[in-house]
Amino acid sequence: MSGAKNAVLPMMAASVMASRPCLIQNAPHLVDVEVMAAILTSIGVHVRWTGVTGSDLYIDPSGLRSHVVDEALMRKVRSSIFLMGPLLAKLGKVEVSHPGGCDIGPRPIDLHLKGLRAMGARFEESHGRILGVAESWKGVDIHLDIPSVGATENIMMGACLAEGVTIIRNAAKEPEIVDLQGFLNSMGASVRGAGTDVIRVEGLKSLKGAVYSVMPDRIEAGTFMAMAAITGGEIWIRNAIAEHVQAVIAKLRETGADVIEKPDGLFVRGPRRPLPTDVKTLPYPGFPTDMQPQMMALLTLADGTSVITETVFDSRFKQAEELGRMGARIRVDGRTAIIKGVPALSGAQVEATDLRSGASLVLAALAAEGVTVVTGIQNLDRGYEKFEDKIRALGGNIARVD
Ligand code: EPZ
Repeated sequence: MSGAKNAVLPMMAASVMASRPCLIQNAPHLVDVEVMAAILTSIGVHVRWTGVTGSDLYIDPSGLRSHVVDEALMRKVRSSIFLMGPLLAKLGKVEVSHPGGCDIGPRPIDLHLKGLRAMGARFEESHGRILGVAESWKGVDIHLDIPSVGATENIMMGACLAEGVTIIRNAAKEPEIVDLQGFLNSMGASVRGAGTDVIRVEGLKSLKGAVYSVMPDRIEAGTFMAMAAITGGEIWIRNAIAEHVQAVIAKLRETGADVIEKPDGLFVRGPRRPLPTDVKTLPYPGFPTDMQPQMMALLTLADGTSVITETVFDSRFKQAEELGRMGARIRVDGRTAIIKGVPALSGAQVEATDLRSGASLVLAALAAEGVTVVTGIQNLDRGYEKFEDKIRALGGNIARVD
């Protein structure tokens, strides 16, 4: 498994708060990571790939000279919003663009702003740009209306250099937040409680450099687990952490897949034909929304009808129409999708509209009869490192055609 995209991105943002260089090991070579590196470079932070396998990020923040995050770069990757807490904490000001929506629905940042405002930031918005200034920067006891991953991370990072203690209640509990806590504490921060719904941060005057290895990507692991299930194949997923994907393991077992948990990975054997089941996405430890499109692809071939309820994002069923071109029978009604299983899918020309819908189309294509052409695969490159190489190594017949 590659290192987790959604863990390394906030860590890269947090590194601007360090007084010494940081080394983030096992970082994945992904478009989102490269864009984040370009954003850091644009504000004076030195970033370079290093290490024996070339998968370590050396980040030296000593050249940090600007609080203004480039608009064009921000449009490319939403997680640049993670720079708000660290830059307000380090420089007392930040200028970013509103991250805007993407293909899974609007992406508001009201909870981010609410938390940072409570710590002392004042924001002005104009022409899509947000300018934040913090005369003072104090710890706060805040309850999040929604256990937002990004808001939890932004506040948690900013709190490390605040005056006094910060308590984040109804915090998101995703494993990436636990990993970020590990990184922050390796910088000398004092963060406790990540993985539970109450996180406590004791603000400090400064943070030192850190050497930290990123956790394996649980959504990449889940994607390959679903790949074994949909093809009826067998996949050994080395260094996948079973604890991080328990909801996915449970659902795949309901479809008839065998999942064997080992200390150093997961073995998955797909069923001859999947059984139907119902899926409801929820914040961790519920079934992850980032695995919903992949599960939808699997259930299009089930021997019966399944229902998927997407409770996290407003419109994350874009893949349904594309799967329909391959013969799937899916009826979308708001946040619910009814999937009537069919015995087989047939190859077609389909388009990936976002990262995980792209993954779901590749899974369907691997199980379909005939050839499928998936366009829009730049979306895949945002979150899957060497995706087609890994699939070919497993016996999949896939090639990138420019
Ligand atoms: C993170 O996005 C992930 N991205 C997403 O992964 C993931 O789908 C999501 O968490 C949920 O697990 C990164 O970590 C870089 P949220 P984030 O804030 O932080 C609403 C992928 O495919 N909300 O937990 O943006 C929001 O609209 C990506 O790797 C507010 O209303 O997710 C959504 O409905 C896609 N106000 C819900 O909360 C806010 O201020 C959950 O969003 C913030 C969020």
